[in-house]
Amino acid sequence: MFRTRPDARPATVEVLVEGTPVLVPEGASAAVAVLLAGLSAIREMPVTGSPRGPLCLMGVCFDCLAEIDGVPNRQACMVPVAPGMRIARQRGAREARP
Ligand code: FES
Repeated sequence: MFRTRPDARPATVEVLVEGTPVLVPEGASAAVAVLLAGLSAIREMPVTGSPRGPLCLMGVCFDCLAEIDGVPNRQACMVPVAPGMRIARQRGAREARP
């Protein structure tokens, strides 16, 4: 479904998407890592539980919210990958902290 362009930079950065190692080009976003991992969804709607995944890839739709390195509610399309980054599915709503 999602493929890199033939002229894309080589995939040299290893991240973990839902615990699975994925190689991603340097400078790509965590949302690209999700798509390269073959996932179409990375979060669930808090009310309905319906799946959502990266859509706009430019910070507008918020359908890419994920837990990145243990921090929930991050817009995966706005976060560049880093070696060893852990990207995980966000389930439900984020907890409010006092
Ligand atoms: S994919 Fe739309 S805000 Fe990230």
